[in-house]
Amino acid sequence: MIQQIRESVEYLKSKGVDRPEIGVIQGTGLGSVFIQHIKHSIIINYNDIPHFPDSTLGFHKGKLIYGEVGGKKVLTMQGRFHYYEGYSMQKITMPIRVMKALGIKYLLISNAAGNMNLSWKKGELMLIDDHINLQPDSPLRGINHDELGPRFPDMSQPYSQLLNEKLKVIAAEKSIKLNVGVYACVTGPNLETRAEYRYIRRIGADVVGMSTVPEVVVANHAGLPCCAISVLTDDCDPDNLQPANIAEIIEVASKAENKLTELYVELIHSI
Ligand code: HPA
Repeated sequence: MIQQIRESVEYLKSKGVDRPEIGVIQGTGLGSVFIQHIKHSIIINYNDIPHFPDSTLGFHKGKLIYGEVGGKKVLTMQGRFHYYEGYSMQKITMPIRVMKALGIKYLLISNAAGNMNLSWKKGELMLIDDHINLQPDSPLRGINHDELGPRFPDMSQPYSQLLNEKLKVIAAEKSIKLNVGVYACVTGPNLETRAEYRYIRRIGADVVGMSTVPEVVVANHAGLPCCAISVLTDDCDPDNLQPANIAEIIEVASKAENKLTELYVELIHSI
């Protein structure tokens, strides 16, 4: 794995990726507004990067975009990899290892999630304060490479308090409603049954999705401060559950994208 990370890093450096300061991962239906804020951009297809997984989903564009946002050097993943696509956990989190090796100091994540908290509405945003991993695997399973991080990483504060506090202040200043809560991560790709939503809510989660947690586990392992915002794309009230509509989920995500972008662009300015 160490050798693979090195080869990906060398390739990206050869394409002009020069000491990025901040990494950004954009989730389902998200990212196209954010990338309009990137100046002097260099675009690299995932398929061209040695050892990167190939993006299989049509709505994930599968590009790494390097450039400047608010005077900072930012490396953005437009589209991410999911466990349900069939990759190993190590493979889907490989880009975080590569971004860390390139020098990023912070990781900003977004995702689309189903909302189980009845006091919130779809289209709103939720800052992830904590998570519950319901996937059957960890990206850290197997031999630990001590140069990448410790065998038993602490997870008492998986999301950076510094970044989260800044985001709350920015959201208040911009009058953007930013709920705060717990994200549960499932394998997917099927959505949940009513009984599963009921269960996931009862164990303490507000929203549920199929990503982010493996990336956050690896960021914590690597000592990389991170934050994540969910766009609440569908209402998952087990007592009034409508059939899932993926096209609508993507549409709700893209409508909420302006708010999410405002928060992240301002956060990048301020760190
Ligand atoms: N469940 C899991 N993942 C999701 C959902 C959901 O209801 N909505 C958007 N991503």
